[in-house]
Order: sequence, then C-alpha cells, then structure tokens
Amino acid sequence: MSVHGDIKRVTTHTLQSMKQNGEKISMLTAYDFSMATIFDDAGIDVLLVGDSASNVMAGHETTLPITLDQMIYHAQSVVRAAGRCLIVVDMPFGSYQGNSKEALNSAIRIMKESGAHAIKLEGGSEVIDSVKRIISAGVPVMGHLGLTPQSIYKFGTYVVRAKEEEEAEQLVQNALLLQEAGCFALVLEKIPATLGKRVAEALKIPVIGIGAGVHVDGQVLVMHDMLGITKNFSPRFLRRYLNLYDEIKGATARYIEDVKAKDFPNDKEQY
Ligand code: KIV
Repeated sequence: MSVHGDIKRVTTHTLQSMKQNGEKISMLTAYDFSMATIFDDAGIDVLLVGDSASNVMAGHETTLPITLDQMIYHAQSVVRAAGRCLIVVDMPFGSYQGNSKEALNSAIRIMKESGAHAIKLEGGSEVIDSVKRIISAGVPVMGHLGLTPQSIYKFGTYVVRAKEEEEAEQLVQNALLLQEAGCFALVLEKIPATLGKRVAEALKIPVIGIGAGVHVDGQVLVMHDMLGITKNFSPRFLRRYLNLYDEIKGATARYIEDVKAKDFPNDKEQY
C-alpha cells in the first residue's frame, strides 16, 4: 500500500506520453521538505534535486563543491514530501566522472538511500559508458547538455552555448547518443531556441529546457530564481513569479520591529 494513497504518480512513462500528446512538462528544483510539499501539491510534474543546491542552499559560487552525501540528504527531504511528482536527483561533480563503476555505485547510493526515482548527470559521449551502466542496473537517467555548470572552469563563462554550427551539431549528436543509450529525458541549458527546437524534434524522448526556448517539451527553473529569492541574477530566460526576497526581508524587518517594541507577543500570543 502506498503511504500517499491513490494519487497517480508521474513516471518516466508519463513524461513520454506527455511528449507524444504535446503536453508540456513542468519541472522545478527543490531541496527541502517544505518547498517540495508545496510544489507537489500545486501539481508540478517533476522535481529536480539539483546540484544547484551548492549555490542556492550552501552559498558556493559553483556546483562543484556539493558532495554525494549532501545531495542524498536533500533528496531524502524532497522524497518525504512529494507523493505525486517524479523526483530526479543530480549526480554531483566527482561522483561519476572517474569511471562507470564509480558512476553506478554513486547512482545506486542515491536510489537506495533517498528513495528518488531517477538521476541526472551532465555530459555526452564522455559519460556514455556510465549512462549505459547505470541504466542497465535499472536506474532511469536524465541527460544534461548545453551549459553544463559542472564544467564551468572548462567553459570559463556562463554565456549561451552552441551558437556556432560546429558546437550545435556536436550537441545534437550527443543528444542522439544519450537517447540511444536509454536516457528517458534530456535537459538542455542555455542554448539558442532554434537549437532547442531542432533537438526536441530530433528526439523521441522529452527535452526539458532552461533557457532553451519554447519549442522544447518542458521547462525547468531553479526554485529560488522562479520565486525571486535570488538577488542579482537576471538571465534573459528567467521569469520571476514572486519577489520573495523583498517580501521576506520586509516581513523580517516587521518582526524585528515588533520584538523590539515589545508588541510581539501580545496577550493572545502567550500562555
Ligand atoms: O542543478 C540544477 O538546478 C540544474 C538545473 C539548472 C536544470 O541542473
């Protein structure tokens, strides 16, 4: 019996059907129980426990420092919350690049210890053996091409990727390779919209974009960006649905004021 009752769970097969039926896939990142509960209740299709936790939760400049143990901790919190959506966990930098055995061991740890449904990793041909080995163990894999933040020191910058035909063609070939290896979906980050369309049309598996235009099969945003919690981050692809930074700062200032003025707690707020 499921602890979440009769709710119909989103699976990798659901995403495949959504692509076939032309229904767009909604995906957000989540790192903790409370936010994952709200997103799941709102009806999000996929929650990604992104290694962007390294930035938005831990305050690192890049995604590189976050560890496998830390990713598993975040994933466990999200899994406890979400009863409907599919939960995908990023494999952190250093947990899969060494060799395919190491990659499989890391993927198995994530699945066993967190209870998530799938993993995501960055790269194309250079990680294809690992992708195949993980999938052969029964673990669904989501690919990630375009701007791959774990390689930021190789790129040197966060600018739009694959604007030139040579890099675009290489990206298309890597996307086909990942599909052939058995990936159930692919994330494309920060590439021209025309290339996003080209890849989505070339692939049978769903393509989910972040800064990859409207023609892909779904969209993903980092929750802190979508909710306006992050300051000083305004890439063109970002739409903010709230300005929580100002809201929370304002609420905090009012709370401080009330405490200092001995206005909180009042008679009704004490025993
Ligand atoms: O870690 C993350 O948040 C991601 C998204 C940007 C897709 O990989």
